[in-house]
Amino acid sequence: MKIDKKEVLRALENITVPGEGQNMVESGAVKNIQIFGDEVEVDITISNPSLQARKKTEVEILKIIHREVYEKAKIKINIKVDAPAKPKTNEIKGKPLPGIKNIIAVASGKGGVGKSTVTANLAVTLAKMGFKVGILDADIYGPSIPIMFDVPMEKPLAINVDGKSKMKPVENYGVKLLSIGFFTQPDQAVIWRGPMAAKALNQMIFDAHWGELDFMLLDLPPGTGDIHLSIMQAMPITGAVVVSTPQNVALADARKGVAMFQQESINVPVLGIVENMAYFTPDELPDNKYYIFGKEGAKNLSEDLKVPFLGEVPLVQSIREAGDIGRPAAMQTATPVELAFEEITKNVVREVVGRNKTLPPTEAIKITTMAGCSVVKKK
Ligand SMILES: Nc1ncnc2c1ncn2[C@@H]1O[C@H](COP(=O)(O)OP(=O)(O)OP(=O)(O)O)[C@@H](O)[C@H]1O
Ligand SMILES: [Mg+2]
Repeated sequence: MKIDKKEVLRALENITVPGEGQNMVESGAVKNIQIFGDEVEVDITISNPSLQARKKTEVEILKIIHREVYEKAKIKINIKVDAPAKPKTNEIKGKPLPGIKNIIAVASGKGGVGKSTVTANLAVTLAKMGFKVGILDADIYGPSIPIMFDVPMEKPLAINVDGKSKMKPVENYGVKLLSIGFFTQPDQAVIWRGPMAAKALNQMIFDAHWGELDFMLLDLPPGTGDIHLSIMQAMPITGAVVVSTPQNVALADARKGVAMFQQESINVPVLGIVENMAYFTPDELPDNKYYIFGKEGAKNLSEDLKVPFLGEVPLVQSIREAGDIGRPAAMQTATPVELAFEEITKNVVREVVGRNKTLPPTEAIKITTMAGCSVVKKK
């Protein structure tokens, strides 16, 4: 039995792309069809990165070819996830951005609410979905990414790229990493002023060889002070994710965090709020939920501020342990934590896609002063 390629195409026209009102052939999702006797190989590209969307598309293709073309066809489907396109221009004040499509800042206001935990788990989930991901750990006070990725003693290598010396990010679990922590001694306290911190971070973007990245996540230090303004202004940030616990003191600071991004001189779109430690759940009794910090506080805040709610993360021992061991909890499959981060990650990707369709890129403001950094060595 020789299968006809045109018949396969006609069959695929019966599958609609959710939200687009087009079928998958019209929308350009079908990239290639190859026939080998009774074998069909279909290459498609979809923009929804969720495993569920991929599985659903796969099942639909199998069913329709078996029904409409040949019921015994052997079918191979290759699905590629298309990253959201970056905004129109890739120039920041004359400086081209080297292959980095989206920079997402993860911030909070209050310390210790789980920015680094959310950053690490978002990153591994994005990587699992097929995106190219990097983390720039911008927490100059207490960089935690090296420990959370089990690379506390690594040092980025210097490599030669087109005659220039560049830093090569450290890589683990499919995520590229640069952190201020790689450059300071554990017994060194570094006192930074805003412009200097911004300059160091700028170097970690422009003087590093990141290669192509769909997403660079920026793990910010806690607070909304002067140093944040400098960092924000120095980076062409696509959007911000604000993390809060449901507790009133954290919510008040999250409100300030959102306001910081929205102020005129910063003007970074807020992609949404993540509620971390939304409820405590014992790992062995996942149906028992204890709202120890209050219920749905961050969700209500997002409604109040009219920014998207991106999802909630439970307070579970395994998340804390995973952070300390250096293997983000969302990597463990078939767990409620994995599911929670999948939901949040899908929402973040959707917000980035929406943002890039409607808004021009955020501009970085040029840093003009380099004053003010001193390194204090402890005895
Ligand atoms: N959902 C959670 N369940 C259990 N433990 C958590 C959860 N989220 C964070 N933690 C733990 O809480 C502590 C603080 O989290 P994390 O370091 O991510 O916060 P942060 O906001 O980045 O803090 P900082 O402001 O110091 O940068 C860590 O020990 C982390 O493992
Ligand atoms: Mg942190």
